[in-house]
Amino acid sequence: MRKIVAILIVLLLAASFFAGCKRDAGTLIGIAMPETHVLRWVKDGNSLRDEAVTRGYRAEVQWADADQRIQNQQVSSFLTQGAKALIIGNINDGVGSAVAEASREGAIVIAYDRIIQGTHDYGYYITFNNYKVGQLQGQSIVDGLNLDAGTAASPRHIALFAGSPTDANANFFFQGAMDVLLPHIERGVLTVAGPFPRHYSEPAFQQIATEGWRADIAKARMEGLLIGDARAVVLDAVLAPNDTLGRAIIEALRADARYHARLPVVTGQDAEFDSIMSIKNGEQYSTVFKDTALLAAAAIILADQLLSGTAVDVPGTILAEGELSEIGFTGTGYVNTLLLDPILITRDNLNVPVDAGFFSEDEAAQIMR
Ligand code: BGC
Repeated sequence: MRKIVAILIVLLLAASFFAGCKRDAGTLIGIAMPETHVLRWVKDGNSLRDEAVTRGYRAEVQWADADQRIQNQQVSSFLTQGAKALIIGNINDGVGSAVAEASREGAIVIAYDRIIQGTHDYGYYITFNNYKVGQLQGQSIVDGLNLDAGTAASPRHIALFAGSPTDANANFFFQGAMDVLLPHIERGVLTVAGPFPRHYSEPAFQQIATEGWRADIAKARMEGLLIGDARAVVLDAVLAPNDTLGRAIIEALRADARYHARLPVVTGQDAEFDSIMSIKNGEQYSTVFKDTALLAAAAIILADQLLSGTAVDVPGTILAEGELSEIGFTGTGYVNTLLLDPILITRDNLNVPVDAGFFSEDEAAQIMR
């Protein structure tokens, strides 16, 4: 009899052990990514899922085709499946109802790369220093045109583009760049062709913004500038907020005979393979490398710490404080914000994203060839 009891106890212990394991290993993290037309998000989603699984979680990833209603349905379905944490790269402030639903269900929400606006009732926001992204773009124009040595007698010409008006990142990218460029504009060394907001809050910002980060919109706007506001000048630079739009702008420029021999300095962001090759070939001038594999790893570490109730301490990130805390302002209040560091890439340091393992072997070989 004692033997039977002993066996039963062992069986019970084993069952509860395995049930425990299953609960821990089975905790679901829902990963909601905004779109696939900007390539980085495909990588982000896959890296997040892989990092979560490596840390013993179950993970599901969905992309929303830049449509907030689709993303909200995806979030709902993660919650129905019992997700305990959600990592969301949102499209616009329509995401609020999904965040409210998550909070009703007691799930942790982490805003990933893009701030969730209109509420600060969620855990954390993790992103890059987006103001610095813009500063790097602006500085690459200053350097590319050697504006420090420029004179008002022979000014250089620039056209301005910004990202989606529904994405607060676009404000920081633009403002970072503009704060670097403005002194040169005020000295008369640089002049703006077309709409010229000095700050993202000005109405003219809406004219340079690119709804949904759509390449076709940026291309059409560039074509319009070439026969409109920039007709009488030869552009020396175009501030482009990311690689997808930068390449669309270059396409429009290429179709204009005045730019066959020499393209303006065109900026970018994301270190997309096609843009890295374009920089290598002397077309696009610069990009900004944000190591999204590091961002994904950091986001999962953060989720793990929040889920297990341990103190937040994510290596490779800094807490946004002082002026930088503005990056974490949601319109209603401040959310805890962790920042990673972006890096400017030109022809001179194409090896940096390659060495970081950002590209496939085949891509790396083509870049370094
Ligand atoms: C991201 C950029 C990206 C853009 C378009 C922004 O929120 O920070 O990396 O290029 O969205 O998807």
